[in-house]
Amino acid sequence: MKVIGINGSARKGWNTETLVKKALEGAADAGAEVELIELYAEPRKGCLECFACKRKGIDTGGLCAIKDNLRPILEKAYNADVVIIGSPNFFGYPSAMARAFIERFLYPLTSYMIEDGKQKRILGKRIIPAGIIFTMNSDENYYKMGGYGTTLGATRSNLEYILGYAEQYNSYNTLQFKDYSVMNADLFNPVAKRIQHEKQFPKDEVACYEMGKHLVAKAVEMNRE
Ligand SMILES: Cc1cc2nc3c(=O)[nH]c(=O)nc-3n(C[C@H](O)[C@H](O)[C@H](O)COP(=O)(O)O)c2cc1C
Repeated sequence: MKVIGINGSARKGWNTETLVKKALEGAADAGAEVELIELYAEPRKGCLECFACKRKGIDTGGLCAIKDNLRPILEKAYNADVVIIGSPNFFGYPSAMARAFIERFLYPLTSYMIEDGKQKRILGKRIIPAGIIFTMNSDENYYKMGGYGTTLGATRSNLEYILGYAEQYNSYNTLQFKDYSVMNADLFNPVAKRIQHEKQFPKDEVACYEMGKHLVAKAVEMNRE
């Protein structure tokens, strides 16, 4: 059982990476071999609409045809039993690199063909359970009011539709800066942020740990036959 975790934040050791690592810890404790991938280690390109993955007479094997620095990561994701993606909420969407990964992972697995009266499933009966972890400044209330549930939720539902199963976890009101006093950020109350970080973030870590564990169980259960 192989589980990969993707850090779609440019920052190492911050909110997103910490939670992805926790999810991987849960997966490892459930018996999986785990690997963390830093998407921002190098710049990555999104889908270029070359349509090689849709062209008649070409079989890209469910993978993006572009042979660049994202391709080995896409191969790992394709061959994994569980894929966990973490991303900061950037204006209601996953980060640019997380989007690049998602576009190029999901699009070659999206068939425009019909089989048995339905949209063909490139993965056949195989399910790759996915976890998507979003971290963000806003609280749960703003998440709902600001429409983030629609945009970020669309990422979860696309993962579910193409891969067969997806879970989403949101970490709200994250600590964005080590020292708010040196930033132009009057909008935030640094004391409240610190308290939130000390009280809530450990709960987010536990939830992500459990998510990792649960996704491993799902991979076994959903690919049983
Ligand atoms: C470019 C950019 C855009 C952001 N947009 C939003 C946003 O629309 N809503 C929000 O709640 N937080 C937003 N944030 C805050 C981040 O989502 C938040 O600080 C996140 O936890 C950062 O993840 P990290 O600590 O792993 O880097 C934004 C931050 C940046 C840098």
